[in-house]
This record gives sequence, structure tokens and C-alpha cells, in this order.
Amino acid sequence: MVDINWEELGFSYIKTPLRYLSYWKDGEWDEGVLTEDNQLHISEGSPAIHYGQQCFEGLKAYRCKDGSINLFRVDQNAKRINTSARRLMMPEIPEEKFIEAVKQVVLANHEYVPPYGSGGTLYLRPLLIGVGDSIGVSPAKEYIFTCFCMPVGPYFKGGMKPTNFIVSDYDRAAPVGTGAVKVGGNYASSLLPGSEAKERSYSDCIYLDPQTHTKIEEVGSANFFGITKDMKFITPISPSILPSITKYSLLYLAKERLGLEAIEGDVKLSELDQFSEAGACGTAAVISPIGGIQFDDTFHVFYSEEEVGPITQKLYAELTGIQFGDVEAPEGWITNLSINK
Ligand code: PLP
Ligand code: COI
Repeated sequence: MVDINWEELGFSYIKTPLRYLSYWKDGEWDEGVLTEDNQLHISEGSPAIHYGQQCFEGLKAYRCKDGSINLFRVDQNAKRINTSARRLMMPEIPEEKFIEAVKQVVLANHEYVPPYGSGGTLYLRPLLIGVGDSIGVSPAKEYIFTCFCMPVGPYFKGGMKPTNFIVSDYDRAAPVGTGAVKVGGNYASSLLPGSEAKERSYSDCIYLDPQTHTKIEEVGSANFFGITKDMKFITPISPSILPSITKYSLLYLAKERLGLEAIEGDVKLSELDQFSEAGACGTAAVISPIGGIQFDDTFHVFYSEEEVGPITQKLYAELTGIQFGDVEAPEGWITNLSINK
């Protein structure tokens, strides 16, 4: 057994034994291998490191009660990385290759999937980068697709305890920019606003729509959702937010399992009073309840700064129940891997 204190995990890099690595050159992907080497050896001219020609994904593997391992909606990550790849003129990764890479990495590092009930999961980070000798602002001629993994705990310190956020004056993305794809540049531009928010003891910042600065778009590296007093689940609609797989899953579960009206719509700062609960959702964030939001001189509390609201709690139980294999999943959401020791 590996020596990790599973209950104490946060969200930080831990080197695990094996990662997947595949090269694209002359119009095709090679077979791909699992390797122990966690260093990438790339040309100093690589477009990924000069012009940000890179994109990535994030998904998790979950240990079930019977010891097997679940992947959650891996097909959706396979599709989204290709949407990102097309936007940055990178070659697509065949969906089967992406899913096979993820499965290989999970199985090769299965001892690092935290035990059922520990609260931990195995986070997978698929990454596509433009490499090779280059310097002009043009697409790379060679690419690396890699996928590595690490055991993680809660992303926001509070986990399922509410934490507070502050509305940022900075924009994360432009109206017709790259906000809807998972590319590194979006995260580089979020470092300063994120760190300013944390310096002021907020969990992270909230980004508004870049065009009018009146509507909530993202909660740091997660989507926003709110529950209205009349039982609607609302999550922002915008061409510059990341189409979160967790958010679409929650829209479905809110409607089909909790009987709420579930909508993608505008979340205006001036209309926060309509919400009785709010949260951040995403693969890393799972569901993280939002206690309050600071903007200008106002601090708006949703349900409570200490307690999780009942609908947020139910959504969390349904989502994580499905992910860990305790609650029946909608068709196609779960890929179950069994381990042959
Ligand atoms: N929004 C941003 C900016 C993110 O980085 C993420 C994380 O992936 C999300 C939302 C949530 O997306 P998902 O639920 O697919 O992980
Ligand atoms: C995720 O939720 O998978 C993310 O990518 C968010 C963050 C860690 C960048």
C-alpha cells in the first residue's frame, strides 16, 4: 500500500508512478506509452511555451465500495479537449485514444486512487501542447498529448463548508475570445485576480461577463449555480464561460432527480436576492457552497456563512453518490474499471 494520509489530501501535485505520453508528427499520432519520467523534454521553440498553444482537461477516478473504480463522463472530456484543440489549431485526439489513455493511467496507478469513504479521488490531467522547433506565431508542427494523475482532496479549503468569494474587477475572458475552451491562457490571466482575492481571505474571485460587468460568469476555476426561493436551479449562460461537465450534470439531476426547474440564464448581480442558496461546481470544486459574495461595498450572504443549504446538500449527495457508484447513474455517465491484482 502507498503511504498517503488520504483524509488530509488537498489539491496539490503528487508524483505518481506512471503517465501516458503520445507524439503527433506528420499528420498522425503514435501509439503512446506509459512512462515513469515526469519531465517533458521539448524544444525551446515550442509554441506552447511562447504563445500558449496548449489545452487541457480535468476529470476524476472514484473508488467504489466494492474496490472497483469509476470514471465520470470521460466521453465528455474527450469531446471538450477536441473543441479546445480546434480553437487553437491543434490536431484532435481520437476519442477512443483519449479514453484509452485515461483508463491506462488509472489502472497503472490504481493504488493511488483514494479509498472509498476517505473523501479523496484520483485527479487526472490530460494535456495537449504544441512543440517542436518553431518561433513564428503559427501552429506547431508537432504535438504532445500526455495524461498524468494524482490523488486529491478538496479544491477549496472549506470543501462542503461554505466559503466567501469576491467579485473581480478583472476579466477572465473576452466576449468572443477563448473563455469557453480549456486553454492555459485563461488560467494565466486568472492568477493575479485569484491571488488578490486570496490575499483578502476570500476563496477565489467571481468573474463578471466581460461585456457589461453586470452578470456572474465564473467562480474562479468553477461554474456558478444558484437555487432561487421558488426552487429553480439557475446557472449562467454565456459564450465566454467553460461548458462545465459538472454543471450540465447538475442541470440534469436538479430537474430529473430533484424535480426543480433547471435553467441556464442570466445571473445578474442586482438580482442576487432571488437566490436562497449558491455554489461553485466543477470537477475539482465538486460542489462548493458559497457563503457570501463581496462586491463594491456590499457583502451578500446566500444561505449561511456556516451551513450548507438543503438543496445544495441534496445535489451533492446525488452527484457524488453517482460518481462513487452508490446511486444509479443516468445511462452512459459511468465507466467502471475493475482491477485484476
Ligand atoms: N469553469 C472553469 C474556468 C474551469 O476551469 C472548470 C474546471 O474544469 C469548470 C468551470 C468546471 O468544469 P468541469 O465541471 O467540466 O470540470
Ligand atoms: C478542474 O476542475 O478540473 C479544473 O481544471 C479546475 C482547475 C484545477 C484548473
